[in-house]
Amino acid sequence: MALLTKYRNIWRLGGKRSFFSRKKFSLGTCNLVEPGNVSPERSVPDHIVKPDYYHVLNSPKRSEGWPEIKDEVQIQGMRESCKLAANVLKKACAITKVGISTDDIDVFVHDEIVKANAYPSPLRYLGFPKSVCTSVNNVACHGIPDDRKLMDGDIINIDITVYYNGFHGDCSRTVLVGNVDERGRFLVQSTEESLNESILLCGPGQALCVIGKSISLFAKSKKLNVMPAFVGHGIGSYFHGPPDVLHFHNNYPGTMRTGMTFTIEPILTLGDVDAEILDDGWTAVSVDNARSAQFEHTILITEGGCEVLTLPD
Ligand code: MF3
Ligand code: CO
Ligand code: CO
Repeated sequence: MALLTKYRNIWRLGGKRSFFSRKKFSLGTCNLVEPGNVSPERSVPDHIVKPDYYHVLNSPKRSEGWPEIKDEVQIQGMRESCKLAANVLKKACAITKVGISTDDIDVFVHDEIVKANAYPSPLRYLGFPKSVCTSVNNVACHGIPDDRKLMDGDIINIDITVYYNGFHGDCSRTVLVGNVDERGRFLVQSTEESLNESILLCGPGQALCVIGKSISLFAKSKKLNVMPAFVGHGIGSYFHGPPDVLHFHNNYPGTMRTGMTFTIEPILTLGDVDAEILDDGWTAVSVDNARSAQFEHTILITEGGCEVLTLPD
């Protein structure tokens, strides 16, 4: 990714009234990013068991039907893959510093996952070229690791999914790089809180839409916006499946049941809700160049409520 504008001050200027209606809460400052040079595909050793899409692009997905209710064996598989994803994410966050490139993060994540006898789920998923998503500043999600080096003040989401013993585990965090301005820190902290608050509401018999209601109300209370285009998802032997987990206010039908596993992964922004996908087919950027942050957990609905599967040791 190359630098478009260094330390540009981005205010949300909405139309003619902008001079007078300049937001009380500024968008702060950030380095805008655009896609850079992507290194060749990394190899995965023969002994690692790969998902179908590694061999056949667009191999059948589990996109239709009811959310799966997992049995004890499947749940144990999910616990292990999610634990691995969380532990790799923790290590990846720890090496994330000024001067390292997002490709360096990809190398690290790829090697850690392969060392654990697992497969990095993003690699070749619907043609994604790398082993992890790295989304910096105005990139909302699905950033492709490249040769851009992290700069002081960046915020970066690292989204790790592993395929281990036949199950995917998916989680992400947004990391502060060096000295991040107050608005950036507020955004990142609030986004994590919005996820945690919504998890408290999860349990059998609850409507799935309480998640979106909780996150949108929380965001509103912080004068932040939710980017509605990106949703959580059911997960298991498949990367993405039913149910869709919307992060905005909605009345979609669907109830949480014991044995369901799904992700919650809100993206909150300092600016407007709209995103667009760049020509690489993946990188989702905010239309107004505002920064966004994202956090993600995979959860299991249990008889007593829910279990966050993606907690590190
Ligand atoms: N990990 C992302 C999610 O939370 C999905 C990334 S798809 C990829 O659902 F192909 F970009 F890896
Ligand atoms: Co993810
Ligand atoms: Co996900």
